[in-house]
Amino acid sequence: MLGIDLHETAAALQRELLEFTRLHPRSGECYRQGLEHYLYGAPLHWMQQWSGSYPVYVATAQGARVEDVDGNSYIDFALGDSGAMYGHANPATVKAISNQLAKGSTFMLPTEESLWVGKELARRFGLRYWQLTTSATDANRFVLRLCRMITGRNKMLTFNWNYHGSVDETQVEFDSGRLMVPRQDVYHNGIDHRQTTRLAEFNDIAGLEESLSHGDVACVLTEPVMTNIGMVPPDPCYHKALREMTRRYDVPLIIDETHTISSGPSGYTGKYGLMPDFLVLGKAIGGGIPIAVWGASETMAERIWQARPPFKPGEPINHYGFGGTLAGSALQIVALKATLEEIMTDDNFCRMEKMALRFEAGTNEVIKKHRLPWHVTRIGARAEYLFLDHPPKNGGEAHLGRHALLEAYIHLYLLNRGILLTPFHNMALMCPFVSEADVDRHSLLLDECLFTIKEER
Ligand SMILES: Cc1ncc(COP(=O)(O)O)c(C=O)c1O
Repeated sequence: MLGIDLHETAAALQRELLEFTRLHPRSGECYRQGLEHYLYGAPLHWMQQWSGSYPVYVATAQGARVEDVDGNSYIDFALGDSGAMYGHANPATVKAISNQLAKGSTFMLPTEESLWVGKELARRFGLRYWQLTTSATDANRFVLRLCRMITGRNKMLTFNWNYHGSVDETQVEFDSGRLMVPRQDVYHNGIDHRQTTRLAEFNDIAGLEESLSHGDVACVLTEPVMTNIGMVPPDPCYHKALREMTRRYDVPLIIDETHTISSGPSGYTGKYGLMPDFLVLGKAIGGGIPIAVWGASETMAERIWQARPPFKPGEPINHYGFGGTLAGSALQIVALKATLEEIMTDDNFCRMEKMALRFEAGTNEVIKKHRLPWHVTRIGARAEYLFLDHPPKNGGEAHLGRHALLEAYIHLYLLNRGILLTPFHNMALMCPFVSEADVDRHSLLLDECLFTIKEER
């Protein structure tokens, strides 16, 4: 079904693991030391889940290039899993945050620059009111709390194989009998998900309507294109139906653009005229600084203020149940301003998309040459290949197009030869500094790596 000889793949992976050890002795030594004091050997467990036997330790990075402590250089298509989507050490970000650091970074008070940022977010994304957080996970959590508050309902609706960060309510999946169960790889945290969550498949309008018809859903949380289980594009009329239905059942719609911002300067929302009630955007927008933003429409803001009026002097402090001491800091504001004003421009997106188109075409050519039943999907500057012969309709189907062993081999083959693909899936991001030669190098190496493992026909 994959078009691949899995025995060969397992053997080839072993060879690549040996090669990895040979090429990365210093990273190996760092990891042995890291195991002494980090629970998973590195400051964050995700860092340990790349394709090698241990993480590559980074020495320095610039634009589309990363250099490790062993002196190996990489073309970086992973870009910190989107956190550095606009290129490492982007000069605009470096300048803005260096200046601000010298003037103080956080005050629990706003700065004048925040005014431009609020106005620009509203202009770009079409929602009037904004707040800052330090992660997209937080932003999703906070918006979910507010949706529960304004609707008086407890459940959120999300989609099978979603990822919106470590939001407890989203950690569910369908079992083989299409029953919602806690995600197998996440401890359920003592939560009875039947009280907090309804689950549907992406693109399934009938399933969505069935879920909403119970009248207990406080919000729908979705990416406009699913991106965390491979990419699942929406059917042509899906967003229209989703919006109409959420309106009909008076259920706030939250669009999480954290990955789909690759679509363009105003994300998928701006490009395709979606009209969410809330929008969440994290990772890349901070240019490497921990920042996420969430926006609310005027209607939602009115409902929030009605449920919990804004603070007035002399009244007890209002906690609201969301925050983040360093959220909205002066440092975040200048980083956001630099990203919005100087980096998320039409020109940059045009360049990034051109490279992604080249990546898509090059990868498709390799797939065709090897007659593999795979396909590539692209959203603007983000491209991904999946081991299925057609774009999946939903997360359940996309999951079938994943293969841990095959992914590990391809990723490690590329890494050992100087290319970083996003770990956890076959995703490539184009920053404004990537070149045609960089993209072509990926196609060449992918072609090479498939020779040894493809099934003889
Ligand atoms: C769509 C989406 N939302 C939210 C998040 C969470 O982002 P963070 O880990 O920065 O909180 C992610 C992370 O991959 C994501 O893909």
